Order: sequence, then C-alpha cells, then structure tokens
Amino acid sequence: MQDYHDFLAEVLIDEPTLQARITELAQQIDRDYEGKKVLLVCILRGALPILVDLMRHLTVPTAIDCMAISSYGVGARESTGQVRMTLDLQTNISELDVILVEDIVDSGRTIGQVMDLLKTRKPKSLKVCTLLDKASRREVQIPIDYRGFLIENKFVFGYGLDIDEYYRNLPFIGVVDLNKYKPGL
Ligand code: IMP
Ligand code: MG
Repeated sequence: MQDYHDFLAEVLIDEPTLQARITELAQQIDRDYEGKKVLLVCILRGALPILVDLMRHLTVPTAIDCMAISSYGVGARESTGQVRMTLDLQTNISELDVILVEDIVDSGRTIGQVMDLLKTRKPKSLKVCTLLDKASRREVQIPIDYRGFLIENKFVFGYGLDIDEYYRNLPFIGVVDLNKYKPGL
C-alpha cells in the first residue's frame, strides 16, 4: 500500500481547523433545534468521522442512524447518475426532525436522490449537513443547511473521504496528486 505522503499534494484542512469548524456547526444545530430532538443520518461510510465528532458536541437530544448507498462505479472518481440503497435506516423517520450528514457534496446527485427517497417517508423536517461542498461542480441544486467548508474542484481524501476505499482514517483533509497516486500499490 502506498504511503499517503507519496501522493499528498497538500494538506487542505488540518485537524484543529476541522475540529473547530465542526464545533461551530454543532452550536448552530443546537440553536436551530432548541426544544426539539434530532435524528442524525450518517451516509456511510464517508460521513462517519464527521457524524461522530459532530454528535459529541450537540446538546439537543440526539439519535443516530446510518444508511449506505452506492453511487460510484468501481474505481471511478465521479458519482454515476443513479444511486442504489445498500443499507436502509432502522428508524421510522415519519414525523422526525432529520439531518442528513454527508462528507462531501459534489454534483449533488447522491444527496439529491437520498433526499427524494427520504421525503417519501414524511419526516417532519429534513436538512442537510455536509463537511465539504464542491459547489462549482453542482448539477443538482440542493439546499445545504450546514456546510463545513467550501472547497475547489480538487480530489481530496482523509477524514472519511477515500481513495479506492483507503485513507478514510486520516484526521485531516488532503489533496491527491493524481499523477503520483498509483492504484493498486
Ligand atoms: P455527488 O453525488 O457527485 O455529489 O458525489 C458525492 C460523493 O462522491 C461523496 O459522498 C463521495 O463519496 C464522492 N466524492 C466526491 N468528491 C470526492 C473527493 O474529492 N474525494 C473523495 N470522494 C469524493
Ligand atoms: Mg460518500
């Protein structure tokens, strides 16, 4: 396995900056949901780190659930048009205040389709929280209620985001030098 130092072009967002921003997002959510309870929906697997760090700062009564979808073709770097749910929620979200938590919104197709699906289950409210937003790449317009960072169109990894399923564990967001990254090594 290649060491990430071999293809790390730059650290885009370091760990203290990530953590400080996530704390701010939690404070924002606490204010907006005062007197209510909230269900955080983690879209596996990329949103795991942000979900965990976010929920630890929330003081409103918080439940969590997870769902998984597959949107990428094998080895592809862009999402395909269709997403497929591979793991459904355990929770009946009807009449609940739900926040969908994502690692990154790129074209918006993934989160757009997830929202369409979840809306058919009649939640009381449905909002979106994403750590990263590649807004310049948007094809499907979706409202982002809580956004960690607006980033440029670069392929990033770490803190939930993978390159071919690895490196999600890193505590920072790095930019990949695609000329130096060797798939399979
Ligand atoms: P969208 O459907 O185009 O918005 O793509 C969203 C999904 O694409 C995210 O949940 C990620 O899994 C993946 N993705 C988009 N950009 C990146 C990136 O820069 N690094 C890693 N994964 C990414
Ligand atoms: Mg993802």
